[in-house]
Amino acid sequence: MKDKRDILVTSALPYANGPIHIGHLVEYIQTDIWARFQKMRGHRCYYVCADDAHGTPIMLRARRDRITPEELIARVAEEHKADFADFRIGYDNYHSTHSPENRRYAGLVYARNRDRGHITNRTITQAYDPVEGIFLPDRFIKGECPKCGAPDQYGDNCEACGASYSPSELENPRSAVSGATPEERASEHYFFRLGDFEAMLKQWTRGGSLQKEVANKLDEWFEAGLKEWDISRDAPYFGFEIPDHPGKFFYVWLDAPIGYMASFQNLCDRTDDLAFDDFWSPDSNAEVCHFIGKDIIYFHTLFWPAMLHGAGFRTPTAIFAHGFLTVDGQKMSKSRGTFIKARTYLDHLDPEYLRYYFAAKLGPGVEDIDLNLEDFALRVNADLVGKVVNIASRCAGFIHKHSGGRLSERPAEPGLFAEFVRAGASIAEAYEQRELNRAVREIMALADRANRYIDERAPWVVAKQPGRTQELQAICSLGLNLFRVLIGYLRPILPGTAQAAEEFLRIPPLTWDVLSEPLADHGIGTFKPLMTRVEPKRIQAMLEASKADLGTEDAGETAPRESRAAGHLVRDPIADTIEFGEFAKIDLRVARIAAADHVEGADKLLRLVLDLGGETRTVFAGIRAAYDPADLVGRHTIMVANLAPRKMRFGVSEGMVLAAGPGGKDIFILSPDRGAEPGMKVK
Ligand code: MSP
Ligand code: ZN
Repeated sequence: MKDKRDILVTSALPYANGPIHIGHLVEYIQTDIWARFQKMRGHRCYYVCADDAHGTPIMLRARRDRITPEELIARVAEEHKADFADFRIGYDNYHSTHSPENRRYAGLVYARNRDRGHITNRTITQAYDPVEGIFLPDRFIKGECPKCGAPDQYGDNCEACGASYSPSELENPRSAVSGATPEERASEHYFFRLGDFEAMLKQWTRGGSLQKEVANKLDEWFEAGLKEWDISRDAPYFGFEIPDHPGKFFYVWLDAPIGYMASFQNLCDRTDDLAFDDFWSPDSNAEVCHFIGKDIIYFHTLFWPAMLHGAGFRTPTAIFAHGFLTVDGQKMSKSRGTFIKARTYLDHLDPEYLRYYFAAKLGPGVEDIDLNLEDFALRVNADLVGKVVNIASRCAGFIHKHSGGRLSERPAEPGLFAEFVRAGASIAEAYEQRELNRAVREIMALADRANRYIDERAPWVVAKQPGRTQELQAICSLGLNLFRVLIGYLRPILPGTAQAAEEFLRIPPLTWDVLSEPLADHGIGTFKPLMTRVEPKRIQAMLEASKADLGTEDAGETAPRESRAAGHLVRDPIADTIEFGEFAKIDLRVARIAAADHVEGADKLLRLVLDLGGETRTVFAGIRAAYDPADLVGRHTIMVANLAPRKMRFGVSEGMVLAAGPGGKDIFILSPDRGAEPGMKVK
């Protein structure tokens, strides 16, 4: 490896139709720490990102808000940039996929692939929403499952029985946007022939660009066969029109990764001595490293390198995938207040806390990471406030009071200082390998060591004894020098704290190299507390504020790709009015859940035995992810008692339990107030 490396680092581009939330921040913080580390090491490292501004959800969101997509993405870009700046995400450039540079590179990548025969076309039929006047992506179509009849299922798979199917198989399909019944319409589409790149991709996969788990996943995909990829969408679509096919647009995922190039080009245009080709030509010696979440691996490890290769550009050096964030062990949830926007967090807590906590948790793999809010407070308080900052506050006062604010010419115990310097090699290696959790562990072990040293030498005792001023100065100077090394090691994680510490120590921004030499005969500034403790009541206030946000912003987040996009829209419109007589036909009853069990082979369903006061019914309900059966037994709920029995794969369902929510873990069965008895009619 070269001594001074050229490294281009990216994070995935956030969609421009919703706010940044703490789940996103796992990625932006992880990438930022890595990029800051590389810069501290003296490498030429550039960190770029952009808003991902195209696609159907953004177009529809703008329609709903009665603004143009351009207005929407301009507003969101400002919000995103402010959120990132306040979390100290140190981008060298933050751009947009809706930019001239991106239009140019999307056109270029497409044209080169086309000219080499990697683009093909054919006519396909698709669901069309005649009210909205748009073709509907699968996840924008809802209807009854063709296998089990569960209502309100998305166009690609059933949450109740797990079946997957195509949207045309849904019973009573509706557009999730307008509620209209979709029509089938034919239209010509353009496809990227991914299969042309199989050999090249297999070789690239084995070339060390990927984490082991990811490479294994790719082997499965190779086995399943590389399918042609539909890269066009029909007008109206918010995106780039395909130059040689008026009325056809590039699918958002075609131009999104090209946005990495566009953002970098935009940076080059504003920076002396920075040339696009040095990073992107096939013979480039630079590294291009993409940080992404595990949900978008397919796009980054198959389509992206293939498109680049087909267009005569270099392929990425590395794709670093990370896992998803859970909060207190569960998926972020609006109702629990754990769907926390970046801005809501910032309104209540210091960004350095979260940066530290994520670093302490993040390893090099794709495992999910959990933000446990109790642990978060304990850990930040114990480590950062209790250990690191404490070292400085224990030493600074004596230096000012007894030594005129000057560090000694020779700090005490060069051996201990040398030990701290030596530890840097392993810490640097941990950063390089994205073992941030290990870096944090090793740094905190050093912080413990520094505190032990101060405990042993007890400067507060020495200070009381006349004639020992020099010794006192030497002890505290070493303490502050150890503190300085620790701050240097923590600097990629805690840029704000490091900056404040640099001001206090009156030193220029730390680099890795300078850490090996201690500060000697050096004047320091007055010590101000560099960080305050996390107060649990602030966390509580943040959760409350997040709950209060509920509904003001639909940043729906469910795992499957595309569904996340769809989630923004699927606030079911209020249905058409009905006559009272129609309502009266529905026989709603209070039911007592007499038994609840898992259903073998159905990972979404629970089998409920409902007691209607003398009569019992068996009902299959798609609430398995939300409830432990044992917690349900004995509870009262509301059921539709006169629903025609329906045969399902697992048996006959004799009614339906009423529940509300988007599904998955977030589905809540209706419970009557106390006093309601099984069999009572609901009116
Ligand atoms: N626009 C696409 C990426 C295009 S890259 C050429 C996209 N946007 S996103 O806003 O949905 O997600 C941006 C990044 O944040 C993705 O890498 C995604 O995996 C990550 N995360 C989104 N929610 C997350 C969690 N809850 N936890 C961890 N990372 C998460 O995908
Ligand atoms: Zn089903």
